[in-house]
Amino acid sequence: MPNTFDYRRFYDRLARIYAPMARLWWPYTARALSWLPAQGPVLEIGPGPGYLLATMARRLPAVGVDLSWAMLCQARTRLARAGVRAELVQGDACALPFPSQSFQAVVLTFAFSAIPDGSRALREVARVLAPGGRAVLVDAGIPDDRNPMARGLARIWERFGAHMRDEPILMARAGLQVMAREEFGPWRCMRVVVGHRPERPSPGLAGTGDRR
Ligand SMILES: C[S@@+](CC[C@H](N)C(=O)[O-])C[C@H]1O[C@@H](n2cnc3c(N)ncnc32)[C@H](O)[C@@H]1O
Repeated sequence: MPNTFDYRRFYDRLARIYAPMARLWWPYTARALSWLPAQGPVLEIGPGPGYLLATMARRLPAVGVDLSWAMLCQARTRLARAGVRAELVQGDACALPFPSQSFQAVVLTFAFSAIPDGSRALREVARVLAPGGRAVLVDAGIPDDRNPMARGLARIWERFGAHMRDEPILMARAGLQVMAREEFGPWRCMRVVVGHRPERPSPGLAGTGDRR
């Protein structure tokens, strides 16, 4: 059945109340920073209110692409307050409005689980990464030990429309080589997954990458 949910409208409505919430999980979001390469440009997909984008833009040329205009307005305000510049573009992770091999890094924090077609989004990530470039995903998920608290939290996030996934499998299928996967946070319900685009394409893996 086609997915007819209007995500753009949903995030436009969420934008104003989301910014204070995103502050709460900033320590988790900030995990992405230690995986940034020394050189940009870096693309953030789904920067939302722009906390991470403003921090990254202090060190590297940065671009933010978000489905939601209202989220982009929040990010613009945050960049202005921080006194830093980053390009902001309205667009869809599944059809990124950038040429191939444009970025040294692509970062998504709590945005990958918000995108229904994760495989397509990761293929786009792989396309816009320069050879050797990095994909950094920070998101919620079910940890390897499948502890009941983390599984319970995952069920709650799913009710809010989040997709729990096995990101390394999806990365490999998109042609990215997985460099690191670390679980962290309460009940290890958060993870950072880092992949890089090899100089030459690598064979994909089997499996759906869905984690239920
Ligand atoms: C849960 S928020 C995460 C915001 C921020 N990255 C953070 O760490 O708090 C998800 C963000 O992804 C954006 N988003 C959702 N689907 C998207 C898509 N298909 N393409 C681009 N952005 C998308 C939303 O508008 C929203 O800003």
